[in-house]
Formats: sequence, C-alpha cells, structure tokens
Amino acid sequence: MELESVKRIYDGYSSVYDALFKRFFYPRIRHAIQSMDIRPGERVLDVGVGTGLSLSFFPRHATIVGIDLSGEMLRKAKEKVEEMGLYNVRLLEMNAMNLNFEDNSFDEVFLSHVVSVVPDPYMVMAECRRVCKNGGKIVVVNHFKSRNKMIAGFEKIMNPVSKKIGWRSDLSMDEFVERASLRVEKVCKLKKIDFWHIIFTTNVK
Ligand SMILES: C[S@@+](CC[C@H](N)C(=O)[O-])C[C@H]1O[C@@H](n2cnc3c(N)ncnc32)[C@H](O)[C@@H]1O
Repeated sequence: MELESVKRIYDGYSSVYDALFKRFFYPRIRHAIQSMDIRPGERVLDVGVGTGLSLSFFPRHATIVGIDLSGEMLRKAKEKVEEMGLYNVRLLEMNAMNLNFEDNSFDEVFLSHVVSVVPDPYMVMAECRRVCKNGGKIVVVNHFKSRNKMIAGFEKIMNPVSKKIGWRSDLSMDEFVERASLRVEKVCKLKKIDFWHIIFTTNVK
C-alpha cells in the first residue's frame, strides 16, 4: 500500500475507528502492555498509536511517545490525552519508516495492529530496532496469515479487498520474524482461537 493512500484511509477512519475496532482490539492491547512490565522512568515508543486506544494502559511513571502518519487519528488520540490528563504522553506526526529519533533512545517499542498496515513492515522494524536500546523490548500485536492452509488460501484471496480497507491479510509470522531479525521471547494469543498474536521480543544489536 502507498503511504498516501494509507494516510487517506486512516484519516477517513478516525471518527469511526473506536466504534468499529475498540471492542476487538482493547483487551489485547491491555494484555500486551500489562505484560511489558514497564519500569519507572522508562521511555516507550508507540508506533502507529492511532486514536490512542493504548494510552490509558501505559503506567504514568513512564514517558510515552506516540507517533502516527495520520493527523486525524492523532487528533482523536490528543482528545484522549487531554480528557484523561495523560501528562506523560507526547504525540507526534511521523512516518514509522523514517523515525525522527536518535539511535537507542527508547527502552521499549510497542506496535499494535500496524505491521500489516505500513507499506514496508521490514523498514519499520529496522527503524524500531535502531531507536530501541540494545536489550530493550519490542512488542508486536498483529494479525498474521493462518497456518491452516484453507484459511490461508482464503486470506490470500481476500488480500486485495483487505488492502483497500486498510491492511494486508497475507503476512506470514515466521517470515516476518526472520526478515525483521527479531529475537522472540514469547508468542501468545489472548484466546485459544484468535485472529491476532502478541509477539514479545528482545532487541539484540
Ligand atoms: C489499524 S491502526 C492501529 C492503531 C492503534 N495502534 C491500535 O492498535 O488501535 C493502524 C495505524 O497505523 C498508522 N500508520 C500506517 N502507516 C504508518 C506509517 N508509515 N507511519 C506511522 N503510522 C502509520 C495509521 O495511520 C493508523 O493509525
């Protein structure tokens, strides 16, 4: 997907995003962040923060930087920051494939429902690995292609449609982990049958 069309699609989603997706995404985002064990004073980057569904789950003792390509999604996130008085959160309009941060400037990086949305997930992961400290955590919540051949075939057929509505459905988790050079500590699902995985990794440089 082209960067401009991704931005246009998510600008368009911004006013209905929470109504459409919150009930599906919220429990998984909460579980992933609560499992990260974020320590006082740490700096966490939320890549593709969207409307900020994650923001209330981060501990107030850490500094959270949320970036997103879509100004309209960020506008919704800013409303949440103001309503909830989240003084530890900073929001910036930025492309995840070209992060405007120094090397090693974050302790943890969080990406939820983003790697299937960006034009090049490997460029994004290379940037996340660069800005995350050595030994830091990178946590990815995402839908990946099913290992069941029949479902994977259906996902492949659906991919052109799904790209039109904002994400690809054919990303393989094994290929993603290998090509992004991720050292996986744990992979889990919230329920036995779930469309989304949570991948906990340690950044090894
Ligand atoms: C499906 S939403 C997920 C939002 C949020 N993380 C969540 O879990 O609810 C995908 C988000 O990624 C953002 N995005 C897509 N491509 C991006 C890029 N290249 N750089 C930064 N953000 C991007 C979109 O604007 C959108 O807000």
